[in-house]
Amino acid sequence: MKTPKFKTKDLLKVTDLSREEILDLFKFTKWLKEDLKKGIHHNILEKQSLAMIFEKSSTRTRVSFETGIFQLGGQGLFLSPKDIQLGRGENISDTARVLSRYVDGIMIRTFSHADVEELAANATIPIINGLTDDYHPCQTLTDFYTIFERGDDLSKTKLTYIGDGNNMANSLLLTAAILGSDISIACPENYSIDKEIIKEAENLAKISGTKIEITSDIEKAVFEADYVYTDVWASMGQEEEFEKRKKVFANYKVSKELLKNAKSTCKVMHCLPAHRGEEIDADVIDGDESIVFDEAENRLHLQKAVMCALMSK
Ligand code: CP
Ligand code: NVA
Repeated sequence: MKTPKFKTKDLLKVTDLSREEILDLFKFTKWLKEDLKKGIHHNILEKQSLAMIFEKSSTRTRVSFETGIFQLGGQGLFLSPKDIQLGRGENISDTARVLSRYVDGIMIRTFSHADVEELAANATIPIINGLTDDYHPCQTLTDFYTIFERGDDLSKTKLTYIGDGNNMANSLLLTAAILGSDISIACPENYSIDKEIIKEAENLAKISGTKIEITSDIEKAVFEADYVYTDVWASMGQEEEFEKRKKVFANYKVSKELLKNAKSTCKVMHCLPAHRGEEIDADVIDGDESIVFDEAENRLHLQKAVMCALMSK
């Protein structure tokens, strides 16, 4: 199958990609995944190196990128800020310029989205956002790939997100708005999505036909949903707010009771890591309606496709 190529150098936000680019990416992901299951490997990124900078913890992102680049014939370099000079104050711009002389791409997980933009502006190689405080594009592309792979028509699908108006909520909203899926987001008051991001999604929805609902009412949000999604109440970097957030988010929980308002065929999603008994009940995440481990697996396949689309020569 022909390797897709993105028009942009980097993947910093899902809005870097068009609907057509995302759908091509999904078809390529499916092909890579099916071939891997048959034992067929494609050395599309032979001898290429991916630097992976992690300023926050990770299980899925780290292991899926490192395994993914290896399966494509390349290698991943795990760079903790504790070990590289970035952690001792070397600036982002010099780091970008130096790494551009050695490696073929950089995946970065950090706090400030502006830092990732600065890295991309100063690097001559592709930069992939592996999560910032504002966005998690690799995760939400994977989530919608998982829905696509199940055979659902994305333009006839409704996804409901319950929880914090965080990086996951932002990226799910924008991805749905590009792809034409309906989306309902329920966050507690004062924890909703940034107004600018809602406006951006509304503009995309004018083209794609996505219906957007932003509410604080979880039962209303879940009505007739095909997919119900949630994420942790306190994200990485918000650990000190946890006790306060526990009270604010107490009712923002995905339970069997809540799911009675959704379609009977509704599936449950979570980017993981999950906190059973907080944002999601154990009998839901471990129940028949859960597709969380399909999502986790698909990070590998989708990101392999992303690396090919950005890094293949
Ligand atoms: N969902 C996700 O990005 O998981 P990690 O934090 O383990 O990478
Ligand atoms: N919102 C979570 C997502 C983890 C994948 C966080 O930023 O910690």
